[in-house]
Order: sequence, then structure tokens, then C-alpha cells
Amino acid sequence: MISRETIDEVKNRVDIVDVISDFVSLKRSGQNYKALSPFNNEKTPSFFVVPAKGIFKDFSSGKGGDAITFIMEHEGMSYLEAIRFLAKKYGVEIKEEAGSEEAREQQSERDGLYILMNFAKDYYRHNLFETEEGKGIGLSYFRERGFNDRTIQKFELGYALDGWSNLMDEAIKKNYNKELLEKTGLVVKNEEGRMYDRFRGRVIFPVHNLSGKVIAFGARMMGKEKNQPKYINSPETDIYHKSHVLYGLFQGKNAIRQRDTCYLVEGYTDVLSMHQSDVENVVASSGTALTEDQIKLIRRFTENVTVLFDGDAAGIKAALRGIDLILKGGLNVRVVLLPDGEDPDSYSRKVGTTEFHKYLATKTQDFISFKAGLYAAEAGNDPIRKAESIKEIVNSIALIPDPVKRSVYLQETSHQLKIGEPVLLAELNKLLVQERRKREREAPTQVPPEFDSALEQVQDTTPQTVDPRDMVYYQERETIRLLMNYANHVVDEDHRLVGFLLHELEDVEFSNPVFREIHDQFAEQLKKGQVPDSRYLLDQGSPEVKKAITDLMTDRYETSPHWKEKYQIFFPDEEEILKDMALTNVLRFKFRVVQKMIEENLSKLRVAEQKGDWPGVEKCLEQQEGLKTAERDLASMLGIVVAR
Ligand code: CTP
Ligand code: MN
Repeated sequence: MISRETIDEVKNRVDIVDVISDFVSLKRSGQNYKALSPFNNEKTPSFFVVPAKGIFKDFSSGKGGDAITFIMEHEGMSYLEAIRFLAKKYGVEIKEEAGSEEAREQQSERDGLYILMNFAKDYYRHNLFETEEGKGIGLSYFRERGFNDRTIQKFELGYALDGWSNLMDEAIKKNYNKELLEKTGLVVKNEEGRMYDRFRGRVIFPVHNLSGKVIAFGARMMGKEKNQPKYINSPETDIYHKSHVLYGLFQGKNAIRQRDTCYLVEGYTDVLSMHQSDVENVVASSGTALTEDQIKLIRRFTENVTVLFDGDAAGIKAALRGIDLILKGGLNVRVVLLPDGEDPDSYSRKVGTTEFHKYLATKTQDFISFKAGLYAAEAGNDPIRKAESIKEIVNSIALIPDPVKRSVYLQETSHQLKIGEPVLLAELNKLLVQERRKREREAPTQVPPEFDSALEQVQDTTPQTVDPRDMVYYQERETIRLLMNYANHVVDEDHRLVGFLLHELEDVEFSNPVFREIHDQFAEQLKKGQVPDSRYLLDQGSPEVKKAITDLMTDRYETSPHWKEKYQIFFPDEEEILKDMALTNVLRFKFRVVQKMIEENLSKLRVAEQKGDWPGVEKCLEQQEGLKTAERDLASMLGIVVAR
């Protein structure tokens, strides 16, 4: 560990103007300096350095801080890496904390691993360019695949000779430690204790860490031998943790920061080909789903990820699964679907740089809308599948940590799927609450008791399955809730909410006795030109009515200020949209009532059929037709599509 002393010394020595000038050309402006933002593409300078305070501020990206922050942000380094970097620049001797003997040994062992990996990389490169075998097999393979020398150099590609101990012999000749060599994973020990090279007769792709040190290799076979994996990769070591590394990040980090987007592909060769097509802001996940750590790594450079994937069904399914985790990591996700059977490598070479750029520019779509479109198309007009797709999409939206983004996506999905926002919101809130509960079960925290009951209520208001009887219940409840809270509000011209709702629902009978009682109270009072307030109802009502009223007055919308802090759930400001709410409430209420009647009518129909009561059957069928028409009309007014 770096000692406190060293850190302080570095902080004392740094001159922010000097540090930043290594990366950005600063122009003096009075006491301060300004420049074009190194974090964004911009035409007018919004990047400022204030030497008197030792700080910088970038107005285009919102980033700001001291010299150390700048190095961290600009170079994607961790705090300690930035300290080391600056210590080197200013010639500050790095004193390691007196720490344990063990810690020091570990450090020197890690240094040894880095040195050996670097040796191996140089050796493989030498093979590729300087040996007959390397040139004849490895280099010609790369050439055949269309990789030019610049790409081969940039990624330090190499070749492992086809033999059991070429690398090992060379390392021993150079006096490298055999035991350490085994720890790099470059050589493998078999059961009898014999050692041999891991990579043989393969082309080599070194994997770099953020500061450009080689920490692992991927080795691709060239022929088509059976029973051989296409790629053999380095094992995990003290310096290589697969889940913390992204292939291409070292070579792409500047472009990623400048373009403020990172393309995500699967393979080594995809990264190479994209660089060759002048798309340098790209990393590869190496064929697996991204890990949380890898997502954090990307976040150091940008919040925007664009996933490129093969447009066949398998490719899409695989990509969908992986993407949810990226959303959870707080990144904005876009997708590009490549034509069936193509990967970025094959496709960019097939169509050429210009076309490839055009393709990326025109085919990039937002992930949530992509997913919504996909599911909507699959579901067609089938209401059950449609409900499932809503769940699927809301599932993804629920993963987005930023509540503002969530609500934007909710709106867009609502438009795209023609589904009322409240329906989506209810589904979303249900998931968020479930998620929070799960988290609490896993890591119990103190929840104030009043919250727990608030949670109960919310779960109660969201039915698990869409049973028309439940839906009617919730619509009745919602109607009463609106009445309780907003009866006197003017919704249009000179209509108050109470008049509007009661008039519109005149021909509907409430099935829940408690809600019916409250409804009747309102109706009775309204005839006398009065509107009952909660106090009146609390005084007059039965115990059940009192309980219902108390619940409704402290319903989810009432608790929303807490909710906002605790759960990051936002509700639209009800008062503003009261008119719309009242109208959709009426429509939805009727819609659910009609659906309930359809169900009931169907059971009647079945009974009539069994009894052979043919006039009864006929009557039911007639009624069914009328009900179906009403359902369709209401549905289209509500923007819900119902199967014919
Ligand atoms: N991969 C691996 N081991 C394998 C197969 C794949 O580690 N046996 C990883 C590699 O990082 C590879 C990525 O998964 O780059 C994607 O695999 P694939 O699409 O099969 O390979 P490509 O990168 O397309 O390689 P190529 O174009 O050379 O076939
Ligand atoms: Mn490929």
C-alpha cells in the first residue's frame, strides 16, 4: 500500500495546469485557463481550470475536481493508480506502507508475473514476424483475415510456435523463474509433473489491462482440427481476473471517452475489425455476459453502451439476457442488430468502412423500445401474450436505477405499445416493491413500521393476475379514492369531479358493499347539493367504511413523498392530470365491468348448453355479442387492444 506520506507529498507537488496540459491544450483566460472539453466533442470551450483553487470544471460533462480526479477521469485510473502516475511525473518516491512481509512478497510476485507476461508477448510477436513458421502460418492467417500491420501492431498480436516447449525453453534460457512461469499459466504441469507450453501452433491475442500491461492471452487455432477448442485462454492468475477485464478497453478508452459511447461486441476479431473500420470505441466481452465489474469499468469512461449482435433468434435471445445486467449497472443501452449470421468482424469487412458506419448510424435503436417492439410483434393481438410482454418490458425498466429515466421509458413504452401509463406504472411499482423486499430479506435494514404497512397496501392494490373480478374491485376502489381525495376539484367547465364521476357511473352498480355504501353517501349528499368530506363519512359510516376511508386517505399517492425518498418511485402529480384520470377511471371501470359481465355471461351460456335450454343459449349469445362490442369500444378508447 502506498503510504499516507507519499499521497500527501504528491498532492503538494502537483500543479493542476501542468498536469492537465499533458492532455489538453489550455488557453489562458484571465487568472484561469480554458479549453475544449476533453470529455466531449464540442465547438466552444466549456472546460475550465482554476489554478488558484487547484480545480478544473467541465461544463459539458459536469465533471470536475482536482488534478487527481482529472487523471482518474481522463485516464480511467483508480485513485491509487492516479497517485502512482503523478508520483512518477513529479519524481516523488513511492513509500509503501510498512505493511506485512507477506504483502510485499505478493507485490513482488505480481511484478514478476507482469514481467513474464511481457516477455511472452514479445516472444510471440517475434515469432510472428521473424520466424518462417510464424510468417508462413500466423502472419498469413492474419493477412488472409484482412488485418493490416497497423492493427497487428496496435494489438500486439503474435504467434505461438507449434511445439511442446518453445516458450518454456526460451524463458529458462533467459533465467526466468520456472515456478513463476507456471503461475502465469503460460506453461502447464501434467499429472506426472512434466511441464509444457499451454499455447501451441496458435495465433495470439494479448489481453491488456488499463495501463497497457499484458495480463493474459487468447490463442486461436487456425486449422479446423476437431476436438480442439477454437480459443484457448489464459487461466485466472494474481494479475488476471477475467471478470474485471474487457478486451480492447486499453486501445479504445480514449475514443470511448471522446465519443461518449462504447460499442460492445463478443470477440477479439470483432474489436480488431472495428478498429480497422475506424470505430475505435469498442470492447469485447469475450463471448460471455458482462459482469458487474466490467460494467463499472465502462462507466469510468462513458454511460452509453451500444450492443452489437447477430440478428438471428439465438443471438437476440442471448443478447437480451445479458443486457438486463447492463441496465442495472445504470448505463444507457442501445442496440444494433446485425444481419442474420454476421458478427461485427464479418459484416464490417463484407460491406466496407463507409457502409458499416452508415449501418451503425442508422440501425442503432434504444434497447427498451427495441425490446418493446420485439415483444409487441411476437404477442400480436393475443391479450395473454400481450400481458406477458408488458411484464417483460417493465421488468427491464425496473432495473434502471435512475427514476427519471424510468419514467421517461415508461412514457415511451406506453406510446409504443398503446397501453395506458397507469397500467405500466402499477406493474413497475409492484416490481420495485418486490425488489426492495427481496433486498431487505437478504440484508435486513430497519424499516419504520408505518412503511411496512404502506408496503402491504401497495401490494394489495396490484393484483397478481388479471382476473376481471379483481379488476372491478380495483376500479371501484380507485373511483372511491378519487372521490375521497378530489370530489370538489373542478375537472372541466363547471363540472366538479364528484358530479362527473357519479353521472358517468350512474348505470354501474358497485359490487363491493363498502364501496357501494360510500358511493351511495356521495350520491345522496350530491342530490342535496352537498359534498361529503372525510370527516362526515368517518362520523356516519360503519366500521368497515371507516377502515376503508382511512386506507384510501393514506393510500399510495398520499405516501408518495416518503416513497420518493425511499423507493425512488415517482407518481405523476395527480391534481394536474385529474381530468384525464377521472375519464380513464370511468372508462376503465366500465371496461372491467363489461369484462366481468362477459365472464358471467359465458358461465350462464355453459349452463344453458348443458341443460339444453336453447332459447337461453340464444339469449346469452346475443348478449355476448353486445358485450363484446362494448368491450371493444371501451378498449379502443382506452388504447388497449382486445382480441376479437
Ligand atoms: N471464446 C473463447 N473460447 C472459445 C470460443 C470463444 O474464449 N472456445 C471467446 C473469444 O473471446 C471469442 C469470443 O468468445 O473472441 C467470441 O467467440 P466467437 O464468436 O466464436 O469467435 P470470434 O471472435 O468471432 O472469432 P473468429 O471470427 O475468429 O471465429
Ligand atoms: Mn467472427
